Amino acid sequence: MARIGIFDSGVGGLTVQRALLEALPGADTVYLGDTARVPYGTKSAATVTQYSLRNARVLEACGIDLLVVACNTASAVALPALRQALPVPVLGVVEPGARAAVRATSSGRIGVIGTAGTIGSGAYQAALKALRPDAVVVARACPLFVPLAEEGWTDPDDEVVRGVVRRYLAPLQAERIDTLVLGCTHYPILKGIIAEVMGTDVMLVDSAEETARTVTEILGSSNLLRPASEKGNRHYFVTDVPAGFIRVGNRFLGGKLGDVHQVSLEGY
Ligand code: DGL
Repeated sequence: MARIGIFDSGVGGLTVQRALLEALPGADTVYLGDTARVPYGTKSAATVTQYSLRNARVLEACGIDLLVVACNTASAVALPALRQALPVPVLGVVEPGARAAVRATSSGRIGVIGTAGTIGSGAYQAALKALRPDAVVVARACPLFVPLAEEGWTDPDDEVVRGVVRRYLAPLQAERIDTLVLGCTHYPILKGIIAEVMGTDVMLVDSAEETARTVTEILGSSNLLRPASEKGNRHYFVTDVPAGFIRVGNRFLGGKLGDVHQVSLEGY
């Protein structure tokens, strides 16, 4: 059976894991959350690349057949280095997200939100422009969305939440975008309030769902998968003590994580 490795800076990648398991319930997965080094979104490309390579080597040692880089920041800055270093296919979330956005837009005015690292890298902007050269891309970092999602502050009726979301999204509204890419692992948790603030004319693109679809395309036609009626093996690893990851993770995953083990990155 194919084993899918998936890593993120921490708990956020569980939104990608969730989408993956919804699409491929029989998949065997090994998830690594680098909780000792989170956040990645505020760090330099060089540091995130170094962390990402280490995470990938841990997963490689687990015998994975495919690596999914769930972290948007790592996908934005570390994909070429990961592809060069690993003997297995490496899939990031930026390309699938950009593809879905280009499919969804009719006006060509596309918004992208993500961490400072993701937006600063220009990766989504470049991927969108490569697919649709006449696209007008409006990109904006929304750093406070990550702690809001982790704290579970997602209630659209909460005036603090609404105020933060409105303030970040106002420039995107002013640009009359018709499609918005949720370019961060945490943003699907805030989808309800983001949709409400942006209004029904704006289509939200969830990179997690698109990535799951791409993995299904890669593996779905092979006979490397269990039938959907069988549940795959799921392993969860973190680089710091598991308690906080489990608490927030059950919510992000939308179910019980089960056992979560701490791993040391020493030697990788
Ligand atoms: N996982 C990160 C991302 O999708 C968000 C959290 C962080 O900054 O590490 O970009």
